[in-house]
Amino acid sequence: MGIEIALGWPSQVIFWLLVAFPVRALDLDTSSKDSICAATSLIQGGIMDYYAGSQYGGTVGMFQAPYYWWEAGEVFGGMLENWYLCQNDSYSQVLYDSMLAQAGPEYDYMPSNQSMVEGNDDQGVWGLTVMGAVERNFTNPHDKNAPGWLAMVQGVFNTMYSRWDDQHCGGGVRWQIFTWNSGYNYKNTVSNACLFQLAARLGRYTGNETYIAVAEKIFDWLVDVGYVVLQENANVYDGANIDDNCTDITKLEWSYNQGIVLGGLAYLYNATNGSSTWETKLSQVLGGSTTFFFKDKIMYEVTCQDSNSCNNDQRSFKSIFSRMLSLTSILAPYTADTINPLMEASAAAAAKSCSGGSDGHTCGLNWQNGSWDGWYGLGEQASALEVIQSSLYNQRPAPFTSDNGGSSVGDANAGLNKSTTNVLHSNLKITHKDKVGAAILTAVVIAILVGGSIWMMF
Ligand SMILES: *[C@@H]1O[C@H](CO)[C@@H](O)[C@H](O)[C@H]1NC(C)=O
Ligand SMILES: *[C@@H]1O[C@H](CO)[C@@H](O)[C@H](O)[C@H]1NC(C)=O
Ligand SMILES: *[C@@H]1O[C@H](CO)[C@@H](O)[C@H](O)[C@H]1NC(C)=O
Ligand SMILES: *[C@@H]1O[C@H](CO)[C@@H](O)[C@H](O)[C@H]1NC(C)=O
Ligand SMILES: *[C@@H]1O[C@H](CO)[C@@H](O)[C@H](O)[C@H]1NC(C)=O
Ligand SMILES: *[C@@H]1O[C@H](CO)[C@@H](O)[C@H](O)[C@H]1NC(C)=O
Ligand SMILES: *[C@@H]1O[C@H](CO)[C@@H](O)[C@H](O)[C@H]1NC(C)=O
Ligand SMILES: *[C@@H]1O[C@H](CO)[C@@H](O)[C@H](O)[C@H]1NC(C)=O
Ligand SMILES: *[C@@H]1O[C@H](CO)[C@@H](O)[C@H](O)[C@H]1NC(C)=O
Repeated sequence: MGIEIALGWPSQVIFWLLVAFPVRALDLDTSSKDSICAATSLIQGGIMDYYAGSQYGGTVGMFQAPYYWWEAGEVFGGMLENWYLCQNDSYSQVLYDSMLAQAGPEYDYMPSNQSMVEGNDDQGVWGLTVMGAVERNFTNPHDKNAPGWLAMVQGVFNTMYSRWDDQHCGGGVRWQIFTWNSGYNYKNTVSNACLFQLAARLGRYTGNETYIAVAEKIFDWLVDVGYVVLQENANVYDGANIDDNCTDITKLEWSYNQGIVLGGLAYLYNATNGSSTWETKLSQVLGGSTTFFFKDKIMYEVTCQDSNSCNNDQRSFKSIFSRMLSLTSILAPYTADTINPLMEASAAAAAKSCSGGSDGHTCGLNWQNGSWDGWYGLGEQASALEVIQSSLYNQRPAPFTSDNGGSSVGDANAGLNKSTTNVLHSNLKITHKDKVGAAILTAVVIAILVGGSIWMMF
């Protein structure tokens, strides 16, 4: 994720819209596919309000400022599921073009535009979305020069895993890829959770045991270092600095961390034919997911939502969290009785929150209130989309593998030649000019952080 910038100006400034326009909430019957797909069409229309990639001068595969590159990866992941669940091709060209445009020159989701700022978590979230394309048998790239989506995910996996660092904290990848970025000394959960989940999914999809072994190794490290605390309701914390060997843990809990770990465990459980070892761990992390992030059965972002302090990134976390709960209910069917009632209650509540704005169906952040709460944005739309489409997962085939429906062409060695792969061993080919550029960028970001209000002038 990018460096967190608190905008400081809550979107309640347009709260008057709520009274100025008649309230028309989304009409949702959670037992009807047509109703869900009609509601998600409207919500995706709202998502596309933040997208200029289909217009002249817009960037394909990016949402407009202030949304960071990673969030586009997250949002397209939810839209790709909608394409599959609702069997509606309206946005398939946008998804196809976006995933190719942002793949980067070496098809490993390190596009040149992001090269000075990209972190392992950013690359990882895009990797999860492209893995969704593999497992949903999304249209393969027609361009003969482009590799298959599977090879691209393997490129993400290989480049990320080459950054595994045994020299601090007993393992793990760092938050940042590049030494000059602030956060280079932080090893965060989400980067490692993305790598863990990619390994588990590649293992399940390809049947290659090497990926399963890597997934187990990453998960064990997350537990050893204390980022995941296994118990009846497992905690998943944010991360720690390498300076004290990752002992001073930032104990903030975010739904996306919990969700990405949960989803990885569900894939691993499924890939090992329901091993009891993984079942126990999955149940523990599910305990935490369903306890900490739901209030009166309705999903919420516990660390920031009630204090109205969620930033742009955090306002989208319920989106990927919803996807992971939905996938878990399919890949580990014994969890469905626990997950489904929570998702249905949350979907109904989210739909009621989608009653804002001049269109009458803009979605809010807080789903507890029974109406729109005045917040709006890409994250709010994406979160409502994914929670509302959750009950369609069991009406469509489970994520495919290479032998039951997937058709993407892979390359186990993708990304391994990359000059920038082995950052820890200083094989980087970065010019002096690039470094100066990054330093200026860092200075600008610090200036923004210091004088929060300056941000408003940009
Ligand atoms: C497919 O999606 C588009 C855009 O969201 C929507 O206008 C259309 O009604 C949908 N088609 C069906 C059959 O639901
Ligand atoms: C890179 O950034 C430039 C300038 O903003 C933009 O025109 C271009 O479309 C971007 N390319 C990608 C792949 O995002
Ligand atoms: C650093 O942390 C790792 C993981 O918790 C542990 O295995 C290792 O022994 C620690 N090293 C030192 C020097 O304390
Ligand atoms: C899972 O079951 C399949 C089919 O029965 C078998 O081929 C595979 O080896 C099993 N995998 C594990 C990890 O037990
Ligand atoms: C793995 O997922 C498939 C697809 O949903 C499911 O049918 C199967 O029962 C799962 N395996 C286990 C061990 O739960
Ligand atoms: C939402 O509900 C909470 C708790 O009941 C309340 O404090 C808050 O004012 C409500 N917010 C809105 C915008 O309705
Ligand atoms: C996956 O896509 C390929 C290529 O388009 C197609 O031949 C195959 O039938 C698809 N598989 C499923 C399960 O739809
Ligand atoms: C399995 O994956 C590993 C790790 O990427 C790779 O080195 C190996 O070649 C793969 N094996 C096969 C049979 O594809
Ligand atoms: C990687 O390097 C090997 C040998 O050095 C070469 O044969 C192969 O084509 C390269 N692959 C890519 C994707 O550049």
